[in-house]
Amino acid sequence: MVTMAMAAASAMRPLAPLFLFFFFSLAASASDNILANSSLADGQKLVSAGGVFELGFFTPPGSTTAARFLGIWYRDIDPPTVVWVANRDAPVSGTAGSLAVVVNGGGGGGGGRLVLGDGSGRVVWSSAPSNVTASDPVAARLLDSGNFVLAGGGGSGDVIWQSFDYPSDTLLPGMKFGWDLTTGLDRYLTTWRSAGDPSPGDYTFKIDPRGAPEGFIWYNGTSPVYRNGPWDGLQFSGEPEMEPNNTSFRFEFVANRTDVYYTFVVDGGGGGGVLSRFVLNQSSAQRYVWLPQAGGWSLYWSLPRDQCDQYAHCGAYGVCDVGAASMCGCPAGFAPASPRNWELRDSSAGCARRTRLNCTGDGFLPLRGVKLPDTTNATVDAAIAVDQCRARCLANCSCVAYAASDVRGGGSGCIMWSSPLVDIRKFSYGGEDLFMRLAASDLPTNGDDSSRKNTVLAVVLSLSGVVLLALAAFFVWDKLFRNKVRFQSPQRFTSFDSSIPLNQVQDRKMEDETRHSNELNVTLFDFNTIAFSTDNFANLAKLGEGGFGPVYKGELDGGQTVAVKRLSKFSTQGLDEFKNEVMLIARLQHVNLVRLLGCCIHGEERMLVYEYMENKSLDNFIFDKARSAQLNWSKRFNIILGIARGLLYLHQDSRFKIIHRDLKAGNILLDGDMNPKISDFGVARIFGDDTDSHTRKVVGTYGYMSPEYAMDGVFSVKSDVFSFGVLVLELVSGRKNRGMYSSGEQTSLLSHVSSDQEFEKVR
Ligand SMILES: *[C@@H]1O[C@H](CO)[C@@H](O)[C@H](O)[C@H]1NC(C)=O
Ligand SMILES: *[C@@H]1O[C@H](CO)[C@@H](O)[C@H](O)[C@H]1NC(C)=O
Ligand SMILES: *[C@@H]1O[C@H](CO)[C@@H](O)[C@H](O)[C@H]1NC(C)=O
Ligand SMILES: *[C@@H]1O[C@H](CO)[C@@H](O)[C@H](O)[C@H]1NC(C)=O
Ligand SMILES: *[C@@H]1O[C@H](CO)[C@@H](O)[C@H](O)[C@H]1NC(C)=O
Ligand SMILES: *[C@@H]1O[C@H](CO)[C@@H](O)[C@H](O)[C@H]1NC(C)=O
Ligand SMILES: *[C@@H]1O[C@H](CO)[C@@H](O)[C@H](O)[C@H]1NC(C)=O
Ligand SMILES: *[C@@H]1O[C@H](CO)[C@@H](O)[C@H](O)[C@H]1NC(C)=O
Ligand SMILES: *[C@@H]1O[C@H](CO)[C@@H](O)[C@H](O)[C@H]1NC(C)=O
Ligand SMILES: *[C@@H]1O[C@H](CO)[C@@H](O)[C@H](O)[C@H]1NC(C)=O
Repeated sequence: MVTMAMAAASAMRPLAPLFLFFFFSLAASASDNILANSSLADGQKLVSAGGVFELGFFTPPGSTTAARFLGIWYRDIDPPTVVWVANRDAPVSGTAGSLAVVVNGGGGGGGGRLVLGDGSGRVVWSSAPSNVTASDPVAARLLDSGNFVLAGGGGSGDVIWQSFDYPSDTLLPGMKFGWDLTTGLDRYLTTWRSAGDPSPGDYTFKIDPRGAPEGFIWYNGTSPVYRNGPWDGLQFSGEPEMEPNNTSFRFEFVANRTDVYYTFVVDGGGGGGVLSRFVLNQSSAQRYVWLPQAGGWSLYWSLPRDQCDQYAHCGAYGVCDVGAASMCGCPAGFAPASPRNWELRDSSAGCARRTRLNCTGDGFLPLRGVKLPDTTNATVDAAIAVDQCRARCLANCSCVAYAASDVRGGGSGCIMWSSPLVDIRKFSYGGEDLFMRLAASDLPTNGDDSSRKNTVLAVVLSLSGVVLLALAAFFVWDKLFRNKVRFQSPQRFTSFDSSIPLNQVQDRKMEDETRHSNELNVTLFDFNTIAFSTDNFANLAKLGEGGFGPVYKGELDGGQTVAVKRLSKFSTQGLDEFKNEVMLIARLQHVNLVRLLGCCIHGEERMLVYEYMENKSLDNFIFDKARSAQLNWSKRFNIILGIARGLLYLHQDSRFKIIHRDLKAGNILLDGDMNPKISDFGVARIFGDDTDSHTRKVVGTYGYMSPEYAMDGVFSVKSDVFSFGVLVLELVSGRKNRGMYSSGEQTSLLSHVSSDQEFEKVR
């Protein structure tokens, strides 16, 4: 059976979205309500008065069965974007389903229910019972907000039931996300099981009303995956992106004795303006805005963003910072609880105090610009000042930290923690101040003794700084002097130092090189060409966000599709990576390495233009339930083989010996035929043949690093082979090395594989 409602919807679509708003008023001849004692059959649909939403029966596009669901979707958006489903768990098989408004008897008023029958007299779904009694005849009405309301007065009076109280996976403007504490109603999001199956999936996004209320994404209802932090008056502590007055969104959070909820509105939203939705898709929550001129949903932001957003990634008292080489760190006064594991990059044991608290003589050390730790067990008093909060915390021996509960107007209110602080992350932008209790002896400036120690330390530090500067100057001079030789004869320069970062090249020299790009065999693109090809770097053209900036999809004049990596303007590191990558990759050609088509230098802008890979990166496939199904064993084997070939070329068969140093699923791209291509040479190193291993500052990705590299910075081709091994395990198991959840415990795939029990099982 073809989905009739969908077919009808797409028939109207050619006119949208250009004439979207004009057409709403004209086309809205379909009814927007179901009266008492009548029903809506499969094939019929309701259209909201302004023509924004439609309600009817549908079969999800990706579905393999002919299961029919009752749902709400945007009338003029193609492909259909379903925002609500009634019978998620109980599809109607066949098209005999119908939705009726059943009155509880006794006149035209009174209570009522929505009942979805499958045509054979069986009820597959009905609206939750309510104690509200309407005085007028009831009806169900689909509103332009996307809310489907059963109410008296023909659907506009006392609300008996509304779909906004029972969200599926999508939050719409005006919807309340959270609790009605008087009735115990909890409004939360649950993922679809897959794109073709709206039944409830493994992930939920819920507000926890305890302590200072905050949102959690749960896996299987038992393991927290992500936490957005308590509301600080302006935004969630873990979402500095939610900046007020910077977007057309307005966010609101209510927490009082009767209500704990979050809601948002979009300026000009609702009936005739900007459409926006917030959707939980597997473990990631995404905010989209509809851009009619671009004809698509534009992704505003997506959470979790990175490993630091993984719940309690650095354990108790650990602070996660994506900008730091080791990611996890301990605040002042703390040291890794398990130094050995810490060196092996397993920070889950967290940090321990250097000195026990003595209660009376303690003080506080501020941790600035962070996401506040888990507040589930925290105590909140919004009515006191921050000074009083400090005094109260100091007076209570079990209090380990405090923070303002509202940052507006210089800060007010009080959050106090008395259990270990978990899930703190540092932000480079935004975030709040957390005041941690420390023993007096661990506080940095307290008493003559320690301040003298600090002065001595400062002198030592600045002295060593001078020495370092002198060394660096010498090094640069040395490099400049030898530069001339270097470009003419790449083989020779590798012999100066068997490990030369390609980025230690003089700036101007590099620009000359790229201008006269024939030497490098790289096309130099004009900025306007690139800007034009990516619709001026439209959000919609964004493919993703790499370590050094966003990647856009573009189409060149000749129709060739390309991927454009735009290096973040403010990252000096990015500039180095840029040079490194251009120099290196321009000289390499292999079917399993991504091909650089050219680059672009324009003022501060640095961009790399690559061939476009239809299937994006490998991690998109192997860690996604739905898509991983497309990767059968022979495809997986081919991918492993391809990566191995690419790696062999880098290590052995190319003109240089190259160590990639950041081999991971995210850096393996897949073309239309699922052939793997290694990408991202930002931190790669070139080697002479004489030496086997080297020591350098540790860069790369956590979880893929070999122990000797992670601990001592020693790397060689074997480090890449280690990462390759991790990749193979991930490909075979379909699980991430980091972020594997089993029975509520978070372990790494490696330790899982190497644990004794697993060996026992294998034997
Ligand atoms: C709906 O049906 C009930 C029971 O059959 C009847 O009492 C009621 O008057 C009807 N209401 C309307 C509005 O037709
Ligand atoms: C409706 O009222 C009954 C009796 O007063 C009560 O037991 C029940 O919990 C109420 N139901 C709801 C959904 O409020
Ligand atoms: C998650 O989103 C992606 C694209 O945004 C989509 O392809 C995929 O089907 C979604 N997954 C589910 C379960 O809806
Ligand atoms: C989900 O949690 C339940 C217990 O709450 C457990 O029995 C089940 O195995 C878990 N499922 C998965 C896939 O982890
Ligand atoms: C945001 O704008 C509103 C009204 O335009 C203003 O009252 C409020 O103070 C602004 N907030 C910030 C943080 O600038
Ligand atoms: C708005 O937010 C972006 C980051 O999301 C930031 O770069 C920009 O400076 C902000 N603009 C204003 C006016 O605050
Ligand atoms: C809580 O806030 C909501 C929304 O602002 C309001 O309707 C309700 O009356 C408040 N409840 C209390 C007890 O203040
Ligand atoms: C706590 O520290 C204060 C000040 O350093 C000191 O006077 C006091 O004796 C200490 N108390 C205990 C129990 O160690
Ligand atoms: C909150 O307290 C409970 C019970 O003591 C404990 O199991 C849980 O780990 C605590 N959570 C946090 C985040 O401290
Ligand atoms: C100290 O804090 C704990 C936990 O917040 C609380 O249970 C206890 O009542 C407080 N003690 C005093 C004296 O306020």
